[in-house]
Amino acid sequence: MDKLVIAIDGPSGSGKSTVGKAIARRLGYLYIDSGAVYRAVGRKALDTNTSLEDATSVARLANLSSITLEGDPDHLRVFLDGRDVSGQIRLPDASHASSVVATIPEVREAVVEKLREMARAGGVVMDGRDIGTKVFPDAQVKLFLDASLDVRARRRCEEERERGRDVTADQIREELEARDRRDCERTATPLVKAPDAVFIDTSDLPLDAVVERALEIARTRSQT
Ligand code: CDP
Repeated sequence: MDKLVIAIDGPSGSGKSTVGKAIARRLGYLYIDSGAVYRAVGRKALDTNTSLEDATSVARLANLSSITLEGDPDHLRVFLDGRDVSGQIRLPDASHASSVVATIPEVREAVVEKLREMARAGGVVMDGRDIGTKVFPDAQVKLFLDASLDVRARRRCEEERERGRDVTADQIREELEARDRRDCERTATPLVKAPDAVFIDTSDLPLDAVVERALEIARTRSQT
């Protein structure tokens, strides 16, 4: 198959990363988790005591930091200035910080540049909030995944518990709602479906079925 760019957007818990990793594995593509880059910027702001509201300073951090993703989809590691921060970027404070710094236009510009550079060789699956609308508006395959808030909160709650965090579904639900609101209401590339993205509601659909559907779309697109 030609080296396509596959863009997957949607809110937290919609199944983006599970589906994205599976597609990348099946096609032998690079998987790029764009959220990990925003999380690394948020992590750095917290670790350097930079106010999340100080747009100029946070943008400077985003521009000057080295953020790299290494490893195959099942063993993805995130490095910030050469340090493995794969665990620290998933902590609740980093989840919150990532969605705050992601509202800053200059931070988004710096991250978009990094993401395009990471995908330079083609043959990539990238997931996030603005991949089909901003990072790769010409991606050959665009998916927009969504699911009910209850289903998304349940999925995320299971993941958090696997990581050892003692959380309730209500707590996760509140965190997701706050991040959804920030992602959808920001002026800089808010979370919206690209007009040419295929919308898939994953609330009642096994993620394997979503993967098959995406692969079918990719096969069709690579022949045209
Ligand atoms: O894993 P989850 O879907 O909860 O979040 P993530 O993909 O790791 O992204 C963390 C945060 O980064 C999101 O809440 C968004 O605010 C932001 N983000 C973004 O604005 N644009 C992207 N392309 C990816 C993430």
